[in-house]
Amino acid sequence: MTYASTCITITFFFLPQSSRSYLFDGAVSTRCTKGYEVVRRRVRAFYSPRFLHSSSNRRAGGGSVVVRLRRNSALPSPYISPTTTWAEIVRHQASGSCAQIIAGLLLLVRNINDQSRSLKCQCQRVDDADGMTSGDANRTWFTESVSQANQILGDLNGQKVISFENGSVMPNNEASNHSSYKTRGNSIEDEAWRLLQDSVVYYCGSPVGTIAAKDPSDSSSNCLNYDQVFIRDFIPSGMAFLLKGEYDIVRNFILHTLQLQSWEKTMDCHSPGQGLMPASFKVRTVPLDGDDSATEEVLDPDFGEAAIGRVAPVDSGLWWIILLRAYGKCSGDLSVQERIDVQTGIKMILKLCLADGFDMFPTLLVTDGSCMIDRRMGIHGHPLEIQALFYSALLSAREMLAPEDGSADLIRALNNRLIALSFHTQEYYWVDKRKLNEIYRYKQEEYSYDAVNKFNIYPDQISPWLVEWMPDKGGYFIGNLQPAHMDFRFFSLGNLWSVVSSLATTHQSHAILDLIEAKWSDLVADMPLKICYPALEGQEWRIITGSDPKNTPWSYHNGGSWPTLLWQLAVACIKMNRPEIAAKAIDVAERRLATDKWPEYYDTKRARFIGKQAHLYQTWSIAGFLVAKLLIEKPDAARNIWNDEDAEIVNALNIMADSNPRRKRGRKVLKKTYIV
Ligand code: GLC
Repeated sequence: MTYASTCITITFFFLPQSSRSYLFDGAVSTRCTKGYEVVRRRVRAFYSPRFLHSSSNRRAGGGSVVVRLRRNSALPSPYISPTTTWAEIVRHQASGSCAQIIAGLLLLVRNINDQSRSLKCQCQRVDDADGMTSGDANRTWFTESVSQANQILGDLNGQKVISFENGSVMPNNEASNHSSYKTRGNSIEDEAWRLLQDSVVYYCGSPVGTIAAKDPSDSSSNCLNYDQVFIRDFIPSGMAFLLKGEYDIVRNFILHTLQLQSWEKTMDCHSPGQGLMPASFKVRTVPLDGDDSATEEVLDPDFGEAAIGRVAPVDSGLWWIILLRAYGKCSGDLSVQERIDVQTGIKMILKLCLADGFDMFPTLLVTDGSCMIDRRMGIHGHPLEIQALFYSALLSAREMLAPEDGSADLIRALNNRLIALSFHTQEYYWVDKRKLNEIYRYKQEEYSYDAVNKFNIYPDQISPWLVEWMPDKGGYFIGNLQPAHMDFRFFSLGNLWSVVSSLATTHQSHAILDLIEAKWSDLVADMPLKICYPALEGQEWRIITGSDPKNTPWSYHNGGSWPTLLWQLAVACIKMNRPEIAAKAIDVAERRLATDKWPEYYDTKRARFIGKQAHLYQTWSIAGFLVAKLLIEKPDAARNIWNDEDAEIVNALNIMADSNPRRKRGRKVLKKTYIV
C-alpha cells in the first residue's frame, strides 16, 4: 500500500526473554525504515516492572518509534500494516530470544495530505482516534490497542495518559496553567514568580521547561541560543516549581528530555555516547512537508553540535538525575523514577560515566567547557564541578535504581566509584592553610607507591595570591587536579555542590562555609556569587582562555558574579545548619536584582556592574533567587535536594585511613584499580 503520509508513530509492547532492549529497539527502527528515505527517526525503548502484574515478568516492556519519511514514500506493505505485520517484523528481527508481542501494537499512520484536517499541531493524543488510523476497517483494532496501551501506561502512575506524536507519554492533566503566580502585589518575589511563569515553554500545550532568558525589550536577533530550554538552567526553575507544589512541569521536563536522550546525534559523522543528555532544546513549529496550511511542533535538541565551541554538556545528565530524585522526594510520586524508560535512562547515563577508558583517576575526565562554564576557561581534565555533580548523581541514582539481576554489575561499579571518588577528592583536592604549607614543602620527582607528592606538584605553582588569601580558618576544594597541575582557583558551584552532595566531609563542609564568610568581600561583595576566584589576568588570560573577549578578567565566567548560584548557597548553608550565611547573601541580592532587571551575571571585582554582555531577565537568576528565598522560609524542604552523608562510604574511608596512620593509601585497599 502507498501512503502520502510522512510520519508514523509506532508504540509497541513486548515480553522479552532477555534484557536486550536496544537490539530489539534498533531492529524495529531499521526494519521499518527499509526501502524509503528517512528524514528523522526517534526511538525509545522501555521496560516496565509493572507491565505485567507479576513481579516474575520484570523484563516486559515496549517502546516507540517515530519515523518521518519523505513525501510520497511508499511504505513497504509486507512490513507495515496496521494489523499484523509488526509482530512478525519484531519476531523476525529479534531472533527469537527477546520477542513475544504481548499487547497492543499501535500504529498511527498520519495522512497529512488529507486537506480536510488542518493540523496546527501534530502532537496528537492516542485517545483521540479521529484522523489517526488509516481507515475505518482498522478503527476497532486501533481503539482497542489504544485503550490497552493507555491502560498499561496509565497504570504506571495511576493517571490517565496521552501519547504524543513523538512517542512520549504524558498525563492528561498537563494543561495545568501556572496562573497561580499572577502578581499578588509588588514585592520582588511576586515579580520573580510572574517572570518565571512567563518564561515557561509549552510543547503541545504542556509546560516542558523554561526559556534561558526572556527580555521583553530585546529583539530576538540578540538572543543567540538563549531562547532555548537549557537542562542546567532549568534545574533552579524546576526546584522552584517543586517547592511550590507545581509538579507537572518538572515531570514533563524529565520525560521529554529523556526522549531526547536517545536521539540520533552526530557531529561531523561522529556520535557521542547514547546516554548523553542535550545541553538544551527548543520547541520549534515547523511546516508539515507538502502542506502549507499545517504545522507541527517538534523538540529540537542541541547536544553541543551547535553550541558555541561545540562543548559537550557532561553536566546535563547528572543534573537530570539530581532533578529526578528531587521530583520524587518533593512530590511523593515515585512512579516516574520507577518507570522502565526512566530506569533505562538512568542506567544509560551511568554507563556513559562509568565506562572504562584510559583514566587513572576516579574523577570524570572531560574537555574544557563541559559544565556551567561552557567555554574555554582552562577547566578541562577533572574539574571540581563535574566531580561534585557526578558524586551527587551516583548517590541519587543508587537510591532510585530498582534492584534487579541485570543491574548488579552496574551497582557494584557505582559503589566502587563512590568510595574512590570521595577519597580522591577529599584527600587531594582539599586545601587549607596546613595543606598549603605541606605542598609548599613538597619534594619532587618521587618514584614509589608511597610518594607523598603523588602528582609531582612543584611548590612554585602555589600562586602568590593564594598565600595571602587562604584564611587561618577555612579551606576549599581546588578547581582541578592533574599530573603536575593543581588549579588553585576557587570555584563556587563545585565547592557548594560538594557540601550539598556530601562529597566533602562534615569538617570540610564547614570549612568551605567558613571560607565564604572570611572572604565575603571577594566572593559576595555587591552581588552573590562569584563563579570563580580569582580571575585570570594578563598572560594567563591570553594563554588559558585564548584571549576570550567575553571572559575578560572579572567578567562572565572569568570571575564574574552569578545570582543563580544563590540557591546552591542556600542548600549548602541550610544543610550545615548555617542558614544565616545564605540569608545575608539573599539580602545583598535582593537590593539590586529586580532593579537591575535580573541580569545573568555581574562584572568587576566587587560585582558592581551589570555584566558587559549579560542577558537581562535571565530565568535562572530569577529562579535561583526564588529557590533561595523559599528554602530560607522552609528550610526542611532543602532535605529533598541534598544528599546525606553515606555511612558505608564514611566507614570505608575510615578503614582506609586507619590502615595506614600516615594516610598513605595502600594499593590493595580498593578492589578497583583507580589511583586514589
Ligand atoms: C551561558 C552559561 C551556561 C548557561 C547558558 C544559558 O552559556 O555559561 O552555563 O547554561 O548561558 O543560560
